[in-house]
Amino acid sequence: MSTNSGKLWGGRFSSGPSEAMDALSRSVHFDWRLAPYDLSASIAHSEILLAAGLLTSQEQETIANSLQMMREEVLSGALLPNSEDEDVHGALERILVHRLGDLGGKLRAGRSRNDQVATDFKMYLRANARHVAGEILELIDALISLSEKHADSPSPGFTHLQHAQPVTLGHELAKHAHALVRDLDRIQSWDKRTAISPLGSGALSGSTLDLDPIRVAQVLGFEDSAANSIDAVSDRDFAAELAFILALVGVHLSRIGEEWTLFATREFGWVELSDEFSTGSSIMPQKKNPDVAELARGKAGRLIGHVTSLLTTMKGLAFAYNRDLQEDKEPLFDSIDTLMVLLPAVTGMVATSKFNTAKIAESAPEGFSLATEIADWLVREGVPFRSAHEVAGACVKFCESSGKELSELSSSELASIDKRLTPEVCNVLTVEGALKGRLKKGGTAPEAVRQQLAALRERVQPIRIWSEINVAPFQVR
Ligand code: ARG
Repeated sequence: MSTNSGKLWGGRFSSGPSEAMDALSRSVHFDWRLAPYDLSASIAHSEILLAAGLLTSQEQETIANSLQMMREEVLSGALLPNSEDEDVHGALERILVHRLGDLGGKLRAGRSRNDQVATDFKMYLRANARHVAGEILELIDALISLSEKHADSPSPGFTHLQHAQPVTLGHELAKHAHALVRDLDRIQSWDKRTAISPLGSGALSGSTLDLDPIRVAQVLGFEDSAANSIDAVSDRDFAAELAFILALVGVHLSRIGEEWTLFATREFGWVELSDEFSTGSSIMPQKKNPDVAELARGKAGRLIGHVTSLLTTMKGLAFAYNRDLQEDKEPLFDSIDTLMVLLPAVTGMVATSKFNTAKIAESAPEGFSLATEIADWLVREGVPFRSAHEVAGACVKFCESSGKELSELSSSELASIDKRLTPEVCNVLTVEGALKGRLKKGGTAPEAVRQQLAALRERVQPIRIWSEINVAPFQVR
């Protein structure tokens, strides 16, 4: 046999590759995880060859049974590549030919590693994007439950990390869930765009054989087959786009991480982390560190790096397939692996966090956070906001010099600051009033927060069903 073992080429060569060539070329140590998808695609391809009259039904049955068995062995871990295999495609063909003899060599008709690898990669990513979505949903659930628990609790709200206006703690926590729901929307719409099968494109120009790309696409859970074979084997937009979406998930987790790290400081003292989701120090026995939160912050860096690395690989790349494209897989594999480890830990940290609501509520009015209430009250009394802002500012100035809080100003002090400040203004100078007043959609009032959370629960329901759907070839992790 002229083809070198574990590689899918060799006929025109008189010597095998050097060790250095082999070492550089090899991808089987990372692309073996595509094996179950490659085998599913091969089973589908054997049916297409049968329909085209290129395999007898006996031959197709023998091949499909063998591929099915290999798939089970791969999934159980019993079947592994050897040290000579170049990539997953070469390894699987070597094994098939070893088991079936020449018959195994018939399967390669009409396809190339170029359309095969793009197909396998898409299948892998579509399946695993759903698994990531499932983990994001768990985190959203934990955030919603925590927000519901604290829908009424007052908290300082910040801009520039300075006390700005009071908010409810539930509102503050729920904001993270909204960012994550947008990520789920992105994953779903990405999946739609990605559901185009490259199989049938061959090396770059399609095939002279009587194959049926649309049928094979449908069997593999795709919506359609590619309209341009050159584009189909060169396109890695789907990988770049998913890398970005996953990086954005990482950025959202990093913002949770940053807040939880701050909240757990002695200075804030807002949250107590459970022992299960904290770590200790090797030298300082008293330490309890928010490592989940810090790793959530830290992992965003590598996720962002993967987007950059893939886009850089794609930039200026000639059409159609170039070997550069072998560099597409590891970044995405790592993005998925990273999130599949990170998300459950962040969910656990959030779900087991104990907030010190008394302490948080106590600081809600501090830092003159009710000043806007004075300005808004004056506006309702017909004062232009520009002057109302000045008057409220004067109140803050007065309080600062006299060491008082806004709510402690007497009627005569108020009147001395501005005669339009009648004693009624005192009615709005409470945190409770400030919260209750913000009732409109998107506002921080407990009632509005409860509505927000109910709507959020409803919004994620169909996404949960979607994430649990397993099209046949997608059953693998
Ligand atoms: N291992 C290769 C990759 O991941 C498969 C495609 C190889 N194609 C080729 N023309 N050498 O990209």
